[in-house]
Amino acid sequence: MEVIIQPDAAAAAKMTARLIADAINAKPQFNLGLATGATMEPVYAELAAMNRRNEVDFSRVSTFNLDEYIGLPPEDKNSYRYYMNYHLFDKINIDKKNTNLPDGMAADEVAEGARYEAAMKKAGGIDLQLLGIGSDGHIGFNEPLSSFASRTRAKPLTPATYRQNSVYFDPPETMPMRAFTMGVGTILDAKRIVMLITGAKKAGIAAQAIEGPLTSMVTGSAIQLHPAVVVVLDEGAAAQLTMREYYDWVFAHEPKWKNYR
Ligand code: PGA
Repeated sequence: MEVIIQPDAAAAAKMTARLIADAINAKPQFNLGLATGATMEPVYAELAAMNRRNEVDFSRVSTFNLDEYIGLPPEDKNSYRYYMNYHLFDKINIDKKNTNLPDGMAADEVAEGARYEAAMKKAGGIDLQLLGIGSDGHIGFNEPLSSFASRTRAKPLTPATYRQNSVYFDPPETMPMRAFTMGVGTILDAKRIVMLITGAKKAGIAAQAIEGPLTSMVTGSAIQLHPAVVVVLDEGAAAQLTMREYYDWVFAHEPKWKNYR
């Protein structure tokens, strides 16, 4: 795992967008795993700006989102399909038929999980998975106690997730309390992982996920099992990391980071 700390959330989002764009430029037929949430909005704004400037081309990119609320149709403003169209897909040269999310309206939940897993496999697997982290440590909607071997399935959401996300719903009680999510095992199958964490409110959970211990109580800690992870943080989210000096030294000295400093 490598940890990169940027001065503020805007710089951290730009660094994340650059990592994604550089990976796509190196392999134009690319399967990109995507995340939603407030943290990712500036990442998608930057990717859209880079696409406008012809710095990255999405014409051969396929995307797979981590999760979707159960019971929300694509046109619902709180569905993650709506979020993705609004923040990214409508602003870049991607073919919408190559954009994938779990179907929140699927009648057979078990079949929907299997369909989504099969679609990723058929595409050749995820080349790079973008991750955020929830206040309860979740990646995707893998709430505490989700198995590290879990696959795409329906998951009940925690009160912590309700407190974090229900602010977007009017009234808040209309937030679905279940969602389809890639499993922790699905996420760990990605060839690379880039996690973005910003804001002082995430400092405690960021330190738990990055520096351990490995526990299904904080599913974000599962990234420690993956051999190719970069975590990008702003100063606020990095405040409780104990190995800061080392992370900064690696970023300042390792040749692979030369063009990013
Ligand atoms: P946020 O969500 O970016 O809105 O904080 C992250 C998450 O819950 O994974």
